[in-house]
Amino acid sequence: MDRSLYDFGLVGLGVMGRNFILNVADNGFTAFGHDLDGDKVSALVTEGGNPSRINASTEVQTFVNSLSIPRKIMLLVPAGKIVDAAIESVLPHLDLGDIIIDGGNSLFTDTNRRESYLHSKGIRFFGAGVSGGAKGARFGPSIMPGGSKEAYQEVQPIFEAVAAKYKGEPCVAYLGPKSAGNYVKMVHNGIEYGLMQLTSEIYDILKRMGNYSTVDLQRIFSEWNKGRLQSFLVEITADILNKEDDKGDGYLVDKILDKAKQKGTGKWTSQNAMDLGVPIPSIDIAVSMREISALKEERIQANTLYSHSPIETITIGEIEKIAEEALYFAFIITYAQGLYQLAEASKEYAYNLNLSTVAKIWRAGCIIRAGLLEDISQAFSKNDKLSNILLDPNFVDKIESTVGSARELVLLGIKNGIPLPGLTNSLTYFDAFTSNKLPLNLIQAQRDYFGSHTYERTDMEGVFHTEWESQK
Ligand code: 6PG
Repeated sequence: MDRSLYDFGLVGLGVMGRNFILNVADNGFTAFGHDLDGDKVSALVTEGGNPSRINASTEVQTFVNSLSIPRKIMLLVPAGKIVDAAIESVLPHLDLGDIIIDGGNSLFTDTNRRESYLHSKGIRFFGAGVSGGAKGARFGPSIMPGGSKEAYQEVQPIFEAVAAKYKGEPCVAYLGPKSAGNYVKMVHNGIEYGLMQLTSEIYDILKRMGNYSTVDLQRIFSEWNKGRLQSFLVEITADILNKEDDKGDGYLVDKILDKAKQKGTGKWTSQNAMDLGVPIPSIDIAVSMREISALKEERIQANTLYSHSPIETITIGEIEKIAEEALYFAFIITYAQGLYQLAEASKEYAYNLNLSTVAKIWRAGCIIRAGLLEDISQAFSKNDKLSNILLDPNFVDKIESTVGSARELVLLGIKNGIPLPGLTNSLTYFDAFTSNKLPLNLIQAQRDYFGSHTYERTDMEGVFHTEWESQK
């Protein structure tokens, strides 16, 4: 075995880990991998081609001893207990000042716990969300690191080399202390859930009301991807719609069971938004829709119990324009909610996030990359106090010119019994957020009526309580 020391260590040689370490080696750094599975270790060594550039072992001691000091060890293993187990396996072999990076989708509170635990052992630890799936890991992901800045700086040259580039700028930046990196990745995934739900709704209504064939839909999404809706998710939707079924006739998408799975990051985004008191209904409903989709048996039973009116058909071409505008509108609203959550979380957890930087490192490499993110990053760089992009004057036109179509499409969906919950929630959020008067005065009166919870008045300062019943 080659005895020279390697620049970078990686634990977990599944698809993401193997691709990430190959990416590191492609960028001129030497790298050493570790996995308990001997087949994965051999596969990497074979694929790496040159053991002095990229090597691997099933033995943790060999792995740790092969790394240059301070050791830089990235974990790319499933979130949860496996991360703790991986930490415990390397820990006894490390020296003070070595660095462990969690590159998985860990819950941010786990990252905080691990950071303090490892700090007490003299080990520097930080979380870095990695987005872009297997291809991104191999050829350029978006990386979202947080935690100790000086620990990040040790790894910065490697991360900047492997990250995706947007017009030459690497899609990685130090985001903030503690779990800032994992938190930003969590909200990235929440936005991902929202955009995916919206795309599926638009696909559904076009198909059912416009009678579009899969070939037509493929053309539509691929055209949209050349315009203002340009984004990874619209692009892959066009690709998916183009895939013929190799096990039967027709297109593969039409054969896929309509039950969506989830690993939890979208749910965590919603749970934490509730804790922070931040409304993100476009993301919440995307989580709920995955849950409803899982109730397949009940859905089939319910479908037979209730009658369904025939769906009206709309002229091809007409609905296409409305759908493009509605999707663009709802994409903006979904990013607005996620970024607003980041703004509030930044205050609550003292992350000191720069939202322009966050939007910038999402412009390439990650799953929610989209042309829109350039406009979003500019809005935040013009005004670092901005919390919601709907308050940026440049977004007013984009919204005003598309909200009418969102309304039309929601009406069509409601009239024809086609669920468009992501679009509907986005529209409702917009209507409520832009209302200077909501009927919550009545809720305050009800609260005060039955629970003496008090209320404020519009015409005078102070807190008031009324004996409502005695006024009859
Ligand atoms: C990414 C993805 C990635 C993963 C999601 C899928 O940014 O590369 O978000 O992290 O694909 O975890 O999540 P679900 O299984 O919950 O859909």
